Amino acid sequence: MEENQRLFLMASPLQGHITPLLHLADILFSKGFSITIVHTLFNSPDPASYPHFDFRSISDGLSQTEASTLDAVHLTDLINVRCRNPLRDLLAAALSQCRQRVPCFIADAALHFTQTVCDELKLPRLVLRTGAASSFLVFASFPLLRQKGYLPVQESRLEEPVVDLPPLKVKDLPKFPSQDPEAFYKLVCRFVEECKASSGVIWNTFEELESSALTKLRQDLSVPMYPIGPFHKHCLTGSTSSTSLLTPDKSCMSWLDTQERRSVVYVSFGSIAAISEAEFLEIACGLANSKQPFLWVVRPGLIHGSEWLEPLPSGFLENLGGRGYIVKWAPQEQVLSHPAVGAFWTHNGWNSTLESICEGVPMICMPCFADQKVNAKYASDVWKVGVHLQNKLERGEVEKTIKKLMVGDEVNEIRENAFNLKEKASVCLKQGGSSYNFLDSLVSDIFSLESSTSKAH
Ligand code: UDX
Repeated sequence: MEENQRLFLMASPLQGHITPLLHLADILFSKGFSITIVHTLFNSPDPASYPHFDFRSISDGLSQTEASTLDAVHLTDLINVRCRNPLRDLLAAALSQCRQRVPCFIADAALHFTQTVCDELKLPRLVLRTGAASSFLVFASFPLLRQKGYLPVQESRLEEPVVDLPPLKVKDLPKFPSQDPEAFYKLVCRFVEECKASSGVIWNTFEELESSALTKLRQDLSVPMYPIGPFHKHCLTGSTSSTSLLTPDKSCMSWLDTQERRSVVYVSFGSIAAISEAEFLEIACGLANSKQPFLWVVRPGLIHGSEWLEPLPSGFLENLGGRGYIVKWAPQEQVLSHPAVGAFWTHNGWNSTLESICEGVPMICMPCFADQKVNAKYASDVWKVGVHLQNKLERGEVEKTIKKLMVGDEVNEIRENAFNLKEKASVCLKQGGSSYNFLDSLVSDIFSLESSTSKAH
């Protein structure tokens, strides 16, 4: 790099968004950029994990009750309003004091307010989309889907195909359990619009995985697109750094060491999803009855109305004779790459889906909300690396689905598909691969961005 340049990046303060943004920052650091991470006080990342970055906090103005992920749409709406002035003040001051050239600001797509701030400061804005391109294509089609009557989703039409977006059915369309049913629609439309106003979109996906969605989005968004994922598989300088807001319980790795190859079902529903006590008990009994070993992440807050494992029948784990292991938070990437893991029962958050793809682990798909339904449909019907937990969340169904994926007739085919996809995820990052080349374009395009506030020294 001819001159040292500084990039400012800001994540949406949710685990599934913080992780890919920090990984992106590390990728760009490895290309020679200096990095400043702008963050809210709520869910702030740990600067000690990234001593090579500069961290700047801004006030998010959230009260104690507002600072919660229970309604992530409401939280995002608040941040989009309350962070506007603090971000503008921080950036204006930083740009006038910074001795390095600042070519652009990189912000999570959900933080749509950052486009207005950047416009005011005449600073180009690049967007980081942490989710899949396929789900974003659905988001970009929201106005059309509403016009055609697919949205809001009606119970009577769930099995109907969405003709404009094959292979989706109405039941696969994103929904969000927000206090204001219209808020999710408005937020999505707004962040899609502000992507169109940006200088480009960076994706944590790769061309071979989502070429059809990426091709359509290139036409719809009309801005440069950089699918440079999977981020976490780049050779990162800070790859030992933790991006977790919770401390992973590494004891599960020694337990995995004692299990047979491909025998364990890893169960985790990400950082936000919550389930009822009745659903929790169906999962527990289904896992026990399946007779497969399992590693289960029961995050504090996962079960509505419970602190942690109180609803579990007493002696549940003891009666399994070591076949089950429960942690509050796991080192997920390490878990998925462990040879003992044979399947991932997931809510299909995009990070979990991509991490599973990268390790070639077949999925049991149980999407909860938002983009997860689209990710799950692609995992099961397009990439054919997973099976859906159908119908009701019920112990007999759980047992049947686990057996289908671990010992059923389809196992070999799904494993082979998962292995092939893992290969593609690895090849795209190697010299000459699609993500490798898009990263080169991204770096050279950042150099050529015209920022009126930037100065070269
Ligand atoms: C949220 C949304 O729910 C999701 O739909 C969207 O795609 C991204 O933002 P989340 O629910 O947390 O994310 O799921 P996911 O995207 O899968 O991210 C969870 C992250 O936490 C993953 O990177 C996973 O590796 C990590 N994790 C999860 C752990 O490190 N340990 C755990 O025990 C569980």
